[in-house]
Amino acid sequence: WVRMVTAQTPTNIAVIKYWGKRDETLILPVNDSISVTLDPAHLCTTTTVAVSPSFDQDRMWLNGKEISLAGGRFQSCLKEIRSRACDVEDEEKGIKIAKKDWENLHLHIASYNNFPTAAGLASSAAGFACLVFALAKLMNAKEDQSQLSAIARQGSGSACRSLYGGFVKWIMGKDEDGRDSLAVQLADEKHWDDLVIIIAVVSSRQKETSSTSGMRETVETSLLLKHRAKEVVPKRIVQMEEAIKNRDFASFAQLTCSDSNQFHAVCLDTSPPIFYMNDTSHRIISVVEKWNRSEGVPQVAYTFDAGPNAVMIARDRKTASLLLQRLLFHFPPNAETDLNSYIIGDKSI
Ligand code: DP6
Repeated sequence: WVRMVTAQTPTNIAVIKYWGKRDETLILPVNDSISVTLDPAHLCTTTTVAVSPSFDQDRMWLNGKEISLAGGRFQSCLKEIRSRACDVEDEEKGIKIAKKDWENLHLHIASYNNFPTAAGLASSAAGFACLVFALAKLMNAKEDQSQLSAIARQGSGSACRSLYGGFVKWIMGKDEDGRDSLAVQLADEKHWDDLVIIIAVVSSRQKETSSTSGMRETVETSLLLKHRAKEVVPKRIVQMEEAIKNRDFASFAQLTCSDSNQFHAVCLDTSPPIFYMNDTSHRIISVVEKWNRSEGVPQVAYTFDAGPNAVMIARDRKTASLLLQRLLFHFPPNAETDLNSYIIGDKSI
């Protein structure tokens, strides 16, 4: 017999960024962060997990290619879920798995991203969230979403925020064992459904520093990070929660843009400095800033993760279509503009 479970999880984009760990193994951050979960139709991972007594080892395929499961992060997630596995009984298929059997059963895992991995868009967030969710269902682990988020966190920090739709906060927590470092939903997907996300995929991929090694170097060398984590982010978290609650776009945009810019300033403050944005990214910021200033009130927020792609959040559909016109005028997708494509998506499911 084979028992299978399939799950789908969208990626998330942080509007108050996570950057820096206080514990690298457990993946515990130096500050809280807040994100918005995307519409699964645009950027998501679909993962099927299967178990069968005929499988003789754990194996995984990503976008059709077999990958190694030796990494500590995958093993941590698997260990956590396995320790919570319960009895499973599927009468229809005649499957009966006792709690104690899970230790000796092997898994086959197939995972697909519905966006090109080469586009350099965060895939670890959706990937680990989906894997943990699917494994928990397969093994009948009776944990709630927040507890699952604390497990997904051990795969990749940002993954903990993808267990929920809408607006999500990752509470950094205080405990040394990380049990209180988990995600909570601030508002569901319906709360602020006017927002429209447009992602500009920048084509020339610079030689990238991974988030994991980048933030390690920042923690080791940046004084600005200490100031950010202690003084700046705690205040911004409170203000951002308030802006989301009141659907206050002006405050939301101001906080989102400032936080993205401070995250990249912290990267520059790292020794050696890390450059994630390129000329195209900088030019997109100028276009949005000019537009917002000419309107008197912000129309669009921008944010950039560990790469040159721009994530823009328009206040409503009308603004989104004007933004797209502007972007296509200034940056039509071609080699000269360095723009590859645009992804347009509603905020969340
Ligand atoms: C810039 O979650 O990819 O996207 O925990 O080492 O796997 P690890 O890092 P990761 O870092 C994400 C950093 C960011 C900001 C954010 O998503 O909050």
